[in-house]
Amino acid sequence: MKEEMTLLILKPDCVAKSLTGEVLRRFEQSGFGIRALKMTRLSPDLLNEHYAHLRDKSFFPEIIAFMTSGPVVLVALAGEDVVARVRDLVGPTDSRKAAKGTIRGDYGVDVMVNVVHASDSKENAEIELRRFFAPEEIQEPGSPVEKSNR
Ligand code: TYD
Repeated sequence: MKEEMTLLILKPDCVAKSLTGEVLRRFEQSGFGIRALKMTRLSPDLLNEHYAHLRDKSFFPEIIAFMTSGPVVLVALAGEDVVARVRDLVGPTDSRKAAKGTIRGDYGVDVMVNVVHASDSKENAEIELRRFFAPEEIQEPGSPVEKSNR
């Protein structure tokens, strides 16, 4: 059976605050597996596509400015029920309303500066993974390392 996967963007605030390792650790410790990982700068064109559902909002130019303000880390993350469970770990969009213990509750600033993007449905996850990764960049699950070899 095909693994369920989600697309994460560790946003410019996450990278600038050196939270990349901490955020990845939370996902890995929750039992999810990294299948692709790359640091890049997102183009306005790609962001226009990614945030098309918000194009009519007054804050749209601000989002594009923020998301192009520095490098981001793109992640393909796999595991059982990963889309929904990662949204729970991340917390709601507005960091100020996010509970402590969630990533946005612990490290986010507000509704825009909120550390991480995570796909909101399985359908969108497939679209977003295709948007940001070539198929050959996404790895098959590796075999577990023998404990004695660690
Ligand atoms: P959205 O897709 O609604 O939320 P989420 O990231 O939780 O899936 O919004 C996308 C991004 O747009 C959000 O992470 C930050 C930005 N945004 C604002 O800056 N202001 C807003 O009022 C909203 C709704 C979103």
